[in-house]
Amino acid sequence: MTSPRVQQLIDGMTWAEKLGQLQIVFRPRPEDAAALVRAGIGSTFWPRSAAATNALQREAVEHTRLGIPLLIGLDVIHGQRTIAPVPLAMAATFDAPLVEDLARLAATEARSGGVTWTFSPMIDVSRDPRWGRVVEGFGEDVHVNAVLGAAMVRGYQGTDLAAADSIAATAKHFVAYGQPEGGRDYNAVDVSTHRLRNVYLEPFRAAVDAGAAAVMASFNTVSGIPMHANRHLLTDVLKSEWGFGGIVVGDADGVRNLLPHGVAEDMVQAVRMAYEAGLDVEMGGAPSDVAAALTPDVLDGARIDDAVARVLALKESLGLFENPYVDEDAELVAPTAAARELVRGAAARAAVLLKNDGTLPLSAPARVLLTGPYADSTDHLGAWTQSFAAPSGSIAGELSARWPATEVQVVPGVSFLGDGSDDIAAAVAAARIVDAIVICVGEPSALSGEAASRSDLRLPGRQADLIRAIAGCGIPFVVVLANGRPLVVADWIDEAPAVLEVWHGGTEAPAAIVDVLTGERDPAGRLPMSFPRSVGQVPVYYAHENTGRPATTGGALELEHADVGLHGPDNVQDKYTSKYLDAELGPEFDFGHGSGYATFTHGEPRLTVAELKLERVHAGEAVTLSLDVTNTSGRRGDEVIQLFIEDLVASVAPPVRRLVAFERRTFEPGARAVIEFSVGQEQLGFWVTDGVGASFRVERGTFHLHIGGALKHTQFVELRVI
Ligand code: GLC
Repeated sequence: MTSPRVQQLIDGMTWAEKLGQLQIVFRPRPEDAAALVRAGIGSTFWPRSAAATNALQREAVEHTRLGIPLLIGLDVIHGQRTIAPVPLAMAATFDAPLVEDLARLAATEARSGGVTWTFSPMIDVSRDPRWGRVVEGFGEDVHVNAVLGAAMVRGYQGTDLAAADSIAATAKHFVAYGQPEGGRDYNAVDVSTHRLRNVYLEPFRAAVDAGAAAVMASFNTVSGIPMHANRHLLTDVLKSEWGFGGIVVGDADGVRNLLPHGVAEDMVQAVRMAYEAGLDVEMGGAPSDVAAALTPDVLDGARIDDAVARVLALKESLGLFENPYVDEDAELVAPTAAARELVRGAAARAAVLLKNDGTLPLSAPARVLLTGPYADSTDHLGAWTQSFAAPSGSIAGELSARWPATEVQVVPGVSFLGDGSDDIAAAVAAARIVDAIVICVGEPSALSGEAASRSDLRLPGRQADLIRAIAGCGIPFVVVLANGRPLVVADWIDEAPAVLEVWHGGTEAPAAIVDVLTGERDPAGRLPMSFPRSVGQVPVYYAHENTGRPATTGGALELEHADVGLHGPDNVQDKYTSKYLDAELGPEFDFGHGSGYATFTHGEPRLTVAELKLERVHAGEAVTLSLDVTNTSGRRGDEVIQLFIEDLVASVAPPVRRLVAFERRTFEPGARAVIEFSVGQEQLGFWVTDGVGASFRVERGTFHLHIGGALKHTQFVELRVI
């Protein structure tokens, strides 16, 4: 509904003023920004301080005909000044309230500097770790992306967008950007309507339901149609079917990219296609000659007015007409102690114990060696952090401070990518005279994020050689893995007694890593993405179809059985099933894998009823599934209870499992609690597409509800829908 103020502005605007409101200038040079604003640009990127923001706002408010304030946008992806763990690590916490708090902190710091619009959360489901941007999203699972994306929207936007600690959220990148061909960024996406509806669109539906102020179109095509010109998805689905009343913003130069996509001959045609498809704000800037050609007979006036109304409505919701300026004296330019504690706790809760023979947690030895490129690196902030972010320290610095009586030796041994300075022998020599070793390896931040796809998922450089050389010393050691994507670890994992996945944990990462290494905090995170055995396995993910020939055994097939003779029912061995001849079945580590230092037992799962009538389910009736969980250890610890649905028979091939609920809970030593989940239409249903449209429905049949602390550690109860 257009407010009187917005309608009055639109009625009085010139065509040029309207088009100006529909552009955000992509990181203008400071010396150009004021002129662009005076020329009528309606949004720009944050000029890096509250004072500079106020200066630009004065240009807009006091030196343009209508005095419409600016939207100030920025990629506040996982923190503004205080950097939280990267979003993939946030997903590993399986802790939605925490993720909401992290977004709230980011919004508080960002708005204090004048930012009013963030291009976050990224909720692109991805099952391809070759793609560098998996670091920015919440992993392979639909439900995790939906729940955490909505949590971030709530965290950024709060209950009042005009509040001094709220910023407008942008759900991105719409849509299916996370499944590019070859894992190569920006590449083609060709998914069925079935998968679009049941996988890639669902997190965006949740973000829109959570009130996301904006949605960003993605760079990719979907079935041959670039998303920046995809009317069906931008307008028919997002705006009409879902009722999205916010802004569809283009990605940087996404409209201009329609030319190399091969669907537009020139920029005028590209802009017209984008606005006809449903884009509202173009990011990148159309040059003046193009702007002059964008006359009312090229662009539909009603569509332009609709886009302008959406932009002005957001400015109104942000309170910018009443208060366009920010209090420069209140700008937060450095982390508070509370902010540091919040991100430190998050980094610890994101840690995933991939394996542990009991070597972890470590007690302070007399002499410890820190080796590997992350031993003394301060590169813990991860992708999408900017020069004004609060830096991190190093693991070496943190451990030395934490163990003052321990002799801490630091011999990196190898660089991240391998170079002439590598000296594994020096690290081995140092290893021979210590009591314990911490090998700190991983990917530098630059190897993940946008335009950072990798074709080889192993540790870069000679880091694996270092691990194997150290393993040969016979001294107790642990591996700390700091990376922005699932890695292939098969070439060294069996030689490591304990491996702690810590991701890129942000400003307080070293403190959090040492907290977990020493047992002060519990590493109860869970993997939000499967770790493949090799890059050849990609895509590998848990919610896969069973296929008509599911394999039950994997691994190298002995060649003497290779010729199983005629292919007939009595001769079908496991050979004729879906697997690789040269790899075990399934990933190295499953989605949801992980455990803390505490130990837990689970009781028998219980259902309130074992049978529901279909019409009652559609009327909103649900059953409650309960599980008793007990901490059987002598230390406080977290358990992450996950609930997966198995739909035994459906009208379309169902995934073998589908996560529909999760809860992370802390237990004191010996404590017991009952975890409860409601199971109804939202959990049992799926989208059925019939070539014309799509409908969400539950079908009659038998469901197995699998509940436990990890995918392969569940128990199930049966629920029948009749
Ligand atoms: C980049 C990214 C997008 C970001 C935008 C503005 O190309 O794709 O996620 O929000 O440009 O920086």
